[in-house]
Amino acid sequence: MGQGALNFLATLLFTEAKSPAVSAEVLTNSLIVDSKIFMKEDYAKQLLKETTENYNLIAKDFSRTRRFIWDDIRPLADFTVTGERILDIGCGNGRLLQVFRDIDVDYTGVDISEKLIEEAKIHYPNSRFYVYDALRLPLPTNHFDKAYAIAVLHHIPSRELRLRFLKEAKRVLRQEGLLILTAWNLWSWRGIGLILKNLFLKLIGQSKLDFRDVMIPWGKTCHRYIHVFTQRELKDLVEEAGFKVKEIGVLGAGKKKNRNYYVVAEDPTP
Ligand SMILES: C[S@@+](CC[C@H](N)C(=O)[O-])C[C@H]1O[C@@H](n2cnc3c(N)ncnc32)[C@H](O)[C@@H]1O
Repeated sequence: MGQGALNFLATLLFTEAKSPAVSAEVLTNSLIVDSKIFMKEDYAKQLLKETTENYNLIAKDFSRTRRFIWDDIRPLADFTVTGERILDIGCGNGRLLQVFRDIDVDYTGVDISEKLIEEAKIHYPNSRFYVYDALRLPLPTNHFDKAYAIAVLHHIPSRELRLRFLKEAKRVLRQEGLLILTAWNLWSWRGIGLILKNLFLKLIGQSKLDFRDVMIPWGKTCHRYIHVFTQRELKDLVEEAGFKVKEIGVLGAGKKKNRNYYVVAEDPTP
């Protein structure tokens, strides 16, 4: 048994269980800090490919269930004013456009799934959409006023690629431009169950995922890769990419009050 596993067991025995979310976070943190078992680059690339294939597979179904923008996302439009250049990274079927209905913006949506971009073009035929990978955007440097990335970053496997995603967003933003992103807050019983399942599989050498990674089913069609962020981790990563975090918190609506983390971060002047 490795040092990481021993530390995990020690933490498991001596952690004061405040809440399931807190204890699971402490446990997985202890493993991340103490072990050097991170995802291999080849496996991260394989997961990226699978994410693309999965979203192509579920595009019609996904688009049908994402016809309207959810209420918790609407306030994020307040950061944008008329005339701005907006990049929607991981735009899916383009539904973010609905929040800009009352203002005139220069919108570009990009997504790695060609099937979702087809959906976007059907629903919003007068807008600009491209099949681009967020890790390599063929878009000009210092160009956009705002970059939105709604529920995308948690699909990017490995810390290294998540950092690359953020640095690429920073590159295409103008100085003092804003990155506005959300990531799923999966610190629920279901999420914690999946985290612990992967933790166990990892300890016995049966999982190549990182700690706090899970695979979430889409019906019986596929399992989507998700990294379960903590708010602190999200803030640290965004700052490491060179942004200045202006706001961070949780978003939700109705019964699902804490469904998402959100971050508003500025590309600072040098
Ligand atoms: C949960 S969906 C969110 C879609 C949309 N932002 C929305 O709120 O409806 C995640 C999206 O990220 C896209 N995506 C995943 N990895 C990507 C990458 N490397 N580059 C661009 N898009 C990516 C997926 O194809 C999918 O459309």
